[in-house]
Amino acid sequence: MNERVAIRVGNAVAEAAPDLWGLFIEDLNDALDGGLNAERVRNGDFEFAATDRDGFHPLTGWAAEGAVQVLTDLPIHPNNRHYASLTGPAAITNEGWDGMRTVSGERLRLSLFARAHGTPVELAAAIGDGLATARRTVEPGGWRRLVIDLDATATGRGELSLAVPAGAALDIDAVSLRPLGDDGEPLTFRPDLLQALEDLAPSFIRFPGGCLAHGYGLANLYRWKDTVGPRHERVHDRNIWNYHQSRQIGYGEYFELCEAVGATAIPIVAAGVCCQNSPGGQRAVPDSDMDAYIQDVLDLVEYANGGIDTPWGAKRAEHGHPEPYGLRHLGVGNEDVINDDFRDRYARIENALREAHPDITVIGTTGPATSGPDYEAGWAYARERAIAVVDEHGYQSPRWLHQNLDRYGAYDPEGSKVYLGEYAGASSRIRSALAEAAYMIGLERTPGVVRLASYAPLLARVGHSQWTPDLIYFTADEVRLTASYHVQQAFGAERGEQVHAVVLEGARPFSRPVPREGAVRFRSARAAIALTEITVDGNPVPDAVITPGGDDLLLAAIDPEAAEIAFTAVRRDGADGFSLGLGPEDPQTSFRLDFAVWQNKNTAVIRRDDGIDNWESGCVWPGLADGVPVAVRVRLDGPRLQVWVDGERHHDLVRDDRPEQRVVAGALSRSGAGGGVEYVVRLVNAEDTEKPVRIDLPGTPGAVEAELSVLAGAGPDDGALFEASPVRPFRTTAKGENGIDLVLPPWSFTAAVLREASATPR
Ligand code: AHR
Repeated sequence: MNERVAIRVGNAVAEAAPDLWGLFIEDLNDALDGGLNAERVRNGDFEFAATDRDGFHPLTGWAAEGAVQVLTDLPIHPNNRHYASLTGPAAITNEGWDGMRTVSGERLRLSLFARAHGTPVELAAAIGDGLATARRTVEPGGWRRLVIDLDATATGRGELSLAVPAGAALDIDAVSLRPLGDDGEPLTFRPDLLQALEDLAPSFIRFPGGCLAHGYGLANLYRWKDTVGPRHERVHDRNIWNYHQSRQIGYGEYFELCEAVGATAIPIVAAGVCCQNSPGGQRAVPDSDMDAYIQDVLDLVEYANGGIDTPWGAKRAEHGHPEPYGLRHLGVGNEDVINDDFRDRYARIENALREAHPDITVIGTTGPATSGPDYEAGWAYARERAIAVVDEHGYQSPRWLHQNLDRYGAYDPEGSKVYLGEYAGASSRIRSALAEAAYMIGLERTPGVVRLASYAPLLARVGHSQWTPDLIYFTADEVRLTASYHVQQAFGAERGEQVHAVVLEGARPFSRPVPREGAVRFRSARAAIALTEITVDGNPVPDAVITPGGDDLLLAAIDPEAAEIAFTAVRRDGADGFSLGLGPEDPQTSFRLDFAVWQNKNTAVIRRDDGIDNWESGCVWPGLADGVPVAVRVRLDGPRLQVWVDGERHHDLVRDDRPEQRVVAGALSRSGAGGGVEYVVRLVNAEDTEKPVRIDLPGTPGAVEAELSVLAGAGPDDGALFEASPVRPFRTTAKGENGIDLVLPPWSFTAAVLREASATPR
């Protein structure tokens, strides 16, 4: 039998952060268009363009039959220039996203703008092969809005077709097909996804990103004014994730979503600089445009909070929402390079906000990672300016998370507070979900530092993703909730008011064996690389060539604790660079050096544990060019790893061998509905044996009853990208005296609510 773990819940030590758990929404992975947006027509405005993605054009998503042209001369609005012009007999057919699904009995609203030339035109609309049909006559004249309600007579997948007969001439634009809600109005949000978000009980929602907020180049900064008002008048744009933004879920819908799920809004505006991964790197809004840019930011606050006697408050009312939205936070910047341009633009924006809206908490940024130059510089700047809250990001492996549960205990509680705006445990396996739960217990018990946190990314349409893992996967028919989702849901749904001290006895930390043997391996996904002047521990090794997509090239055995490798690499052809593996393969600890593998832009050290990669150190670098040699030297010395490229030291890091906390407990309390105190206890057992535990509550509360929700994986590596979690939480109860005895299943997360038996609501 395993040793029993004693969990003693002590006294309350701090007030819990009231808004701690929230959501991060970015139109990435078709999260909005093709996802949360209830719209079924893809590219209904005919505004897709090659600037969004190579191969996109105004008829992307549509098939045309007969004489169909795309024109721009007399558009419905200057922001919506393209429209389809049909000369009959002709038809256009929209495929939606992976086909259009219709459910029998469903009412749908088809709306579009149409302009008939010469004579009245009979427009025939149909979904699929008779799933729903309608006909309307369009009188000649200017643009007219047609609104047609369709009743689906069968369940199935079909396309929306719009056809005109011989001799007819009809222009068509702003085609929309949305299901109707109970109030008879077209839905804004896809109901099953909306429900999944609501069930997370978020305190806040961040929007519009992520990188989308600061955009791919200055022309692509997310400008909120482009996204409000009538849909057909909104400004379309390229999506930084290499697709198209219709802005159908713009700022108005975002605030509406916050209201629908009872969350406060945390908009993120660009800090007057674009994404550092834009062509030409991070650039700043020109000085001459900064005043206007700052005014836009101030106007956003007025749009959210201003009275209807203010210009932007009046706009909000005109858009259907006279009541203010009660904005409390505003983020300025996302993962930016903290250079002089950034500091200057950020300071100007924040100063203006502090002056005009002192009630708004401004959130600054500390770069893309949990360490590194921008993290250091971001924090130095936050201290210098006494920024109220800063946004940290951390996508980390389960190993890293279990080693760093106490990270925020070391932060200065008098300093800037933390919004952990993006984090995830690097896979959709149970192992990652449990590591996230353990880490979240760590976040929850440092309310003096961590005020807000949001897992990222939230949504991904299967087959259309640019970033993994994600919290919720979906298809046209299904919502697939991951194990990470169930963890987030448990934290969001059961909150506490006070954080309690917890003493854990009998839980032994987990230590990984240090690798004793290994090898040097090369591989490249896309390039042919010639390796010359190779030495391993001073011994010459014959020249070699790596072929794109080929098997690993095994060079020599090494002692991963004491090795010196040198070589010259020349790219013969292909794209990007190569990887150098050092040490044993998965699942044990190994290091990998990536040379120019990401957009040919950087060198990085990746550590792999349990088959999951963690980015340990990165360095921006001009990359590889065909025919230009680079000399690389690597030294492994105990846990220390150093890498030189052309004589310049790119990496110097020490492998983190600290033990991992894999059995973890946290406790909060709140006033219970039946009177008395309720305790919310979170328990992680990320080990492969069950753990008997005894939870003692403070004082002597006597008879105690508990409701438990348990998520238990059959194994740590169950669960996969794009799949629903193989397990769902199950509910159970327990009773005890002054606390309860439980057995935590292996690889499990348990959320328990404990209360005195006399206070249990009946
Ligand atoms: O969440 C996905 C991306 O990760 C975000 O857009 C960006 O901020 C981060 O790099």
